[in-house]
Amino acid sequence: MPTDPVLVVHGGAWAIPDDMLDAHLNGVNNAVKAGWNALSKGGSALDAVEEAVVVMEDDETFDAGRGSFLNRDGKVQLDAFIMDGSTLRGGGVGCVERLRNPIRAARKILSESPHVYFVGEGAEGFAAEHGIPLCDNGELIIPREVERLRAFQAHATEQAPNLFAPAISHDTVGAVALDAEGNVAAATSTGGTLNKAPGRLGDSSLIGCGCYADNDSAAASLTGWGEPIMKLVLAKWSADRVLSGNAPEWASQEAMNYLKSRVNGHGGIILLDRRGRFGISHNTPRMAWAFQTKQRADSGIER
Ligand code: GLY
Repeated sequence: MPTDPVLVVHGGAWAIPDDMLDAHLNGVNNAVKAGWNALSKGGSALDAVEEAVVVMEDDETFDAGRGSFLNRDGKVQLDAFIMDGSTLRGGGVGCVERLRNPIRAARKILSESPHVYFVGEGAEGFAAEHGIPLCDNGELIIPREVERLRAFQAHATEQAPNLFAPAISHDTVGAVALDAEGNVAAATSTGGTLNKAPGRLGDSSLIGCGCYADNDSAAASLTGWGEPIMKLVLAKWSADRVLSGNAPEWASQEAMNYLKSRVNGHGGIILLDRRGRFGISHNTPRMAWAFQTKQRADSGIER
């Protein structure tokens, strides 16, 4: 089914501080450029979401790749998932510590492994065996995040702040795309939540929770507080609303309403079907997003 390509990306949904708005907007615009470049050269939806997410993993603004939140032990632990809507093949990594671009490893798993997931050292070993260089975990850590963790832990001992308040960053990144062949794909990448317990896995890399793609329904990528999102298997829930005849614009908003009303969760979603219709919704104070179609490009963040 030949069609006009579409690409949508997000760069996290939370109370993004005023002084980080421009960085977020630049980041999502750069991500769209990279993904659109892949689509323009005849690349697949999978190529587009991978390239878009790599740009945001490389950008220290976001909670993905270098610059991610630190876990309780002061380490970066990353989760990522990518899914092909035409074959339903997926590739995911969880709790990886030595990969600058976990989404590249996830793509290799999708393309070159009979499995869907690798975690921890096994994932790092798989990546290395498939030509993806490993780095030292220290190379993923930046001073801003060392200070953020220090301040959080100092405060936590005094009055136990709410780790999941919307003001705590959920800068997970993601992309959904439709290519010229009429196939959809989705990708999501994250450093997870600040001060998380070592080994904690969020929604982002769990199939159907923070990421899902099926040509028959839609492609979805989520950001936000992972535990409520995974309880609702919200990416699949949202895609199923499209399958049953609803527009992605409506289904994305309904997903955020459901997240809030059912489990008091917060976050954001991008949702795209193979007709090129898409929705961008969040129930947090701000979310950074951008999209590109043949006719139109736009990006935004609440000012
Ligand atoms: N949504 C990112 C996480 O909770 O890990």
